[in-house]
Amino acid sequence: MGVVGVAGVGEPLPPLPQRSGPGRADAVVPRPAPGSAALEARAISKRFGGIQALYRADLSVAPAEVHAVLGENGAGKSTLVKIVAGVIPLDEGEIVVGGEVLHLASPRDSQAAGVAVVYQELSLIPELSVAHNLLLAKLPKRAGIISMARANRLAEEALAALGLGYIDPRSPVRGLPLDQQQMIEIAKATMVRPRVLVLDEATSSLGGAEVERLFGLVRSLRDQGTTVVVITHRMGEVWTIADAMTVLRDGRTVGRFPVGAVSQNEVVALMAGQDVRTIFPEKPALGAARPALELRDVRLRPDRPPWSLQVRRGEILGLGGLEGQGQRELLAWLYGTAKGTGTVLMDGRPVRVRRPSDALRHGIVLIPEDRKAEGLHLELPVRWNLAMATLRRRSHFGVIRMRAERDFADEAIRRLKIKLNSPFDAASTLSGGTQQKVVIGKFMAREPSVLLFVDPTRGIDVQTKFGFYEMVRDLASAGATCLLYSSDTEELVGVCDRVAVFCDGVPARVLQGEEITQDAVVAASFAVVEAAG
Ligand SMILES: Nc1ncnc2c1ncn2[C@@H]1O[C@H](COP(=O)(O)OP(=O)(O)OP(=O)(O)O)[C@@H](O)[C@H]1O
Ligand SMILES: [Mg+2]
Repeated sequence: MGVVGVAGVGEPLPPLPQRSGPGRADAVVPRPAPGSAALEARAISKRFGGIQALYRADLSVAPAEVHAVLGENGAGKSTLVKIVAGVIPLDEGEIVVGGEVLHLASPRDSQAAGVAVVYQELSLIPELSVAHNLLLAKLPKRAGIISMARANRLAEEALAALGLGYIDPRSPVRGLPLDQQQMIEIAKATMVRPRVLVLDEATSSLGGAEVERLFGLVRSLRDQGTTVVVITHRMGEVWTIADAMTVLRDGRTVGRFPVGAVSQNEVVALMAGQDVRTIFPEKPALGAARPALELRDVRLRPDRPPWSLQVRRGEILGLGGLEGQGQRELLAWLYGTAKGTGTVLMDGRPVRVRRPSDALRHGIVLIPEDRKAEGLHLELPVRWNLAMATLRRRSHFGVIRMRAERDFADEAIRRLKIKLNSPFDAASTLSGGTQQKVVIGKFMAREPSVLLFVDPTRGIDVQTKFGFYEMVRDLASAGATCLLYSSDTEELVGVCDRVAVFCDGVPARVLQGEEITQDAVVAASFAVVEAAG
């Protein structure tokens, strides 16, 4: 068996996929000797009401190592992180940092031990400036007065170290795009020079170029002796940045390997407890279908020339390119939430979309990326969240047909493998990726004819991702037109019929058929920007 069992777990490990391969048999990670690990979680259990989020989970990370923690949505990764951070108490077990058992009563205790955490959900205060957010814990004071000038200067230095010199430390966080907010979170965590840095899905809203920059920073921190724990659903990243990994399933540690000792497929199967099809759905030959959606003389940015583009019925058009080149703006404009000029025709007829209600009336839906702000009512039950999108359609003279609502919600829960205690659970109690599934389910409910996806699989585990790709392809085959912006190049290449590479608000190149490869998409992203510059 090519996989390392974890000593100290109280019960037998579930059977692991039997695969042989050269060199596998001795693929054992030496565990750091007890006490010498930079960070250890020993037999951690945690229960939330009826849900056993962690059961005797183990994690052991060597000093100056980059260690990935992997697992499906709801496996317990963030719960473990929050316990290490002192945000939630553990039921049983021990957290050991640098050989010392921590008594974690609050986040302060964990910070004092040198642990810094970037959480999956952004924690910045939107009303405050970037500098304020960065220095919240330790604003420089002179004779008790906060020196904003100095704070701004410190913030500027920290941003520059991350290649973020273009962000003004005085601007409020609120107006910044999600990816910049994410980078600020990371800057904030690294500013305290932690011994152990934990990144819980810090890359999930970042595009290729920023991920590279972040990984550069992670490597240099590691080389200076910092221990880094990363949680990600992008398998490629694990093999790029991590030295070793721990796999969780249903709250238990089920494997621990050095990177290089196992294949991605083996790890995915271990996370799921079964073999998972990680094959993109087949792309059908698109015949001479008439354009279902025509964009004419579009200007997303006033100083750029107008452009036109046609998308056929049944087509999945990918929007690629570097971050912030207008991909999100295009989708927001089509949905009536961003400025732009031009004509939109659906089936040859011009449509006017000034606000989302216009878009929805025409069968255009947008699946948003910021599930907290736009997609979910966290305090309400999952079933209500799912049903909300179609209430009007399923109500009869103002009376909600409870039966229909329940059937629809249950169907979505089943199809998207949404892991719940009960459909009445508040959305806030779900894991991050599970919340995203609920958002997708909610918008699918409208049976739209044009679907606008804004980085839809951010934070979704591998198994569900591939299920989602099949769902999108099915919708397209049934006649929907899909526009998909993704920060994940692999996804653009695997799923899309054509990929429009954006540069400064304009689709500067459109790749199709055999032309669509990862290298080509990345190369085109840089080429169009250079040509424009
Ligand atoms: N505050 C809470 N109240 C109730 N249940 C919770 C709470 N926090 C987490 N859970 C449950 O604990 C389990 C583990 O959740 P956790 O957030 O740790 O998963 P995760 O591995 O981080 O998943 P993801 O990849 O989706 O982020 C899930 O079933 C989740 O619904
Ligand atoms: Mg999580």
